[in-house]
Amino acid sequence: MRPFFMKRTHHCNELRPEHAGSTVTLEGWVHSRRDLGGVLFLDLRDREGRTQTVFDPSDFSPENFDRATRLHSESVVRVIGRVRVRPAGTENPRIPTGQVEVLAQVLEVLNDADVLPFPVDDPELANKVNEELRLQYRYLDLRRPEMMRNLRLRSKVAIATRQFMDESGFLEVETPTLFKSTPEGAREFLVPNRRDPGTFYALPQSPQQFKQILMVSGVERYFQLARCYRDEDLRADRQPEFTQVDIEMSFIEREDIYALIEGLLKRVWKTALGMDLPTPFRRISFEEALNRWGIDKPDTRFGMELVDFTDDFRASTFKVFSGTVANGGVVKAINAKGLACATQGQIETMTEYAKSFGAKGLAFIKVEGGEWKSPIVKFFSAAEKEALTKKLAIVEGDLILFAADQWLNACEILGKIRLYCAEVLKGQGKLTIDPARFDFLWVVDFPLLSFDKEMNRWYSSHHPFTAPVDEDVPLLKLDPKKVRGQHYDIVVNGVELGGGSIRIHQPALQKTIFEDILAIPPEETQLRFGYMLDAFRYGAPPHGGIALGFDRMCAILCGTTSIRDVIAFPKTAKGVCLMTHSPTSVTPRQLKDLYLEVKAARKEEPPKPA
Ligand code: AMO
Ligand code: AMP
Repeated sequence: MRPFFMKRTHHCNELRPEHAGSTVTLEGWVHSRRDLGGVLFLDLRDREGRTQTVFDPSDFSPENFDRATRLHSESVVRVIGRVRVRPAGTENPRIPTGQVEVLAQVLEVLNDADVLPFPVDDPELANKVNEELRLQYRYLDLRRPEMMRNLRLRSKVAIATRQFMDESGFLEVETPTLFKSTPEGAREFLVPNRRDPGTFYALPQSPQQFKQILMVSGVERYFQLARCYRDEDLRADRQPEFTQVDIEMSFIEREDIYALIEGLLKRVWKTALGMDLPTPFRRISFEEALNRWGIDKPDTRFGMELVDFTDDFRASTFKVFSGTVANGGVVKAINAKGLACATQGQIETMTEYAKSFGAKGLAFIKVEGGEWKSPIVKFFSAAEKEALTKKLAIVEGDLILFAADQWLNACEILGKIRLYCAEVLKGQGKLTIDPARFDFLWVVDFPLLSFDKEMNRWYSSHHPFTAPVDEDVPLLKLDPKKVRGQHYDIVVNGVELGGGSIRIHQPALQKTIFEDILAIPPEETQLRFGYMLDAFRYGAPPHGGIALGFDRMCAILCGTTSIRDVIAFPKTAKGVCLMTHSPTSVTPRQLKDLYLEVKAARKEEPPKPA
C-alpha cells in the first residue's frame, strides 16, 4: 500500500527482480558511494533498508551529474529511476534488495550533509567510537540499523504490553509527574513552585501512591507505562528517568499477579523474539536465593552455587572459620571450576574486591598438579578435607573460595565473587551462556523489614505499603525481623526486572507500620501520608501490584546490558544529556522568579557546545 502522503513509491528494502522495468521514487540518506569508471553508485538508506542506485553520466546533464558526484554521505535525496536486475556477478547477497538496482533518471537533493563526526555505516561502530561521542550526536547514532532496531523493538513491546493489558481488563490511567516530596527510598528531583516561595513539587519515583488511591476509587485494574524519576547513583541498568510498566489490581492475591505477569511476559517474548516462554516460572524464597546464589536476583544460567560448611568447620583448628561459627556466623564456599590457573595477583585483586563489600578476607584453595595449594590447608583435618572434596566435587583445576561471616554478609560476598568468577571464566572461554536462554524466576518471602544499624531503626525492605504475610502479623511487635512481606520480585538472568507486593489496605495496620515500626512521628505521618490514610478510611479494597522496569525488559530483549541502548535520549552516569547539555544553569531572573539563590560554585565547567 502506498502511503497517501508521500512521493516515495517504495522503501529501500522493498525492490526485487519482479519490479524490473518499473519506475520508482526512493527517498532517504546517501549511505555510501562508489565511483566506478565514471559511473556513480549511491547506496540509499531509509528506515527500512538499503537500495543501490546507479548514475550514468549519459542520462544526466553535466551539472546534474556533477551535483551527484559532490554529494556527501548522509545527504538526503529523492531519486526517481527505473528498476533493473543487476548484471550477473554484481549482486549483493547481504541485503534483501541485492539482486536489483535503480538506474537514476532524476536526482533531487533535499539536503546536503556535512562530513560526519563518525561513520554510521559501520556495524562495529559501538565498539570503536566512545559512547560520549555517540551520545553527543545521538541523532546520528540512532541512524545506525542496530539502534533503529532497538527503537523499533521497544515500540513493538510497548504496543504488545498495552494490547495485553487492555485484553486483560486494565485501564491505562495517567498519574501526575508533578508530585509531592515523600522522602523514602531514593533521592528525589525537586521542582520549585513560583506561586508559593519555598514550596516544591517532587518528580515521582513511581506512581505507587496514586495507583493505590485509584484502587480506592474503584478502578480495579490499572496500568500505565509510567515515567519515574530517581536521583540515585547511575549505572548501566539505572537512569535518572526511566519507564515502568506499572500495574495495580483489586481483590487479588499474590498468585493472581504471578499469573498476570507470566501471561504478559509470554506475550512480549512471543511478539519481540517469536519465543514461547515456558510458564509458570520457578519460585525461590529470598532465603534460598541468598543461600544458593548469594544474591536476591540470582543468575541461574550457570552453577557455581554456594555450599555451606558451617557444621564441618565448627570445631576446626583454623580459627578464622571456627571462630566465626562460634560467633553465630557461617562458613560458605564456591567452586570456580577451571580457575586454579589464577595467579597470586589475580587472587589478591579478587580479595580486594571481596573486601570492598565488607569481607574480612577471601580464603582459597587452588587444586593444581594434584595438590591443594593454599596457605590454610595445613589447618584442615582429614574429615574437613573430605567434606570439601565431597560437597564441592573437587577435581584438578578447581579454585575454591571461602567466606566466613554472619549469614547475610557471607552469602552476599560469595554471591559477588561468584559473578566475578563467571565473568573471568567467560573471558577465558570456559563458560558460555546461550544468548537465547532466559531463566525467569520469582523471588518471594522477602523479610518485610530490615534493620539499619547506623540509624538504629527498622526500614521497609520494599516500601512501607507492602503487607506482611497474614500469619506473621502477630510477630510485628514481637520479632520484626521474622515478619515476611507479601513482596515478590521477578528476575531474569540475574536482572531484577520488576517487583511489587500485596498492599496494606487497613488504615490501622498502615498507621502501625508508619508509626510503631518505622518510627515516623504521628504528625509527620499525617503530613506525608495523611491523604492516603484518609482515603483508606472510605472503603479501600484489598489490592496489590507490581512494576516492571520497561527499559530493562527492552535491553534484555535486545541482548544488551546497558539500558542506554534502548532509550532514545539517555543520560550519562553523571546524569548529563550530552546532546542538549542539560542540566544547565539558569538566568538570575529565573532564579529570582522562583525565590531561589545558588550559594555554591558550579563543580564542573559545562560541556562545550558541539
Ligand atoms: P521498584 O523500586 O522495585 O518498585 O521498581 C520497579 C522496577 O523498576 C526498575 N527500576 C529502574 N530502571 C531503570 N533505572 C532506574 N533508576 C530504576 N529503578 C527501578 C527495575 C525495578 O525492578 N512502586 C514499586 C512497584 C510496586 O510495588 O508495585 C516500585 O517502583 O526494573
Ligand atoms: P589470616 O589468618 O587472617 O591471615 O587469614 C588466612 C586466610 O583466610 C587469608 O587467605 C584470608 O584472606 C582468609 N580469611 C580471613 N578472614 C576470612 C573470612 N572471614 N572469610 C574467608 N576468608 C578469610
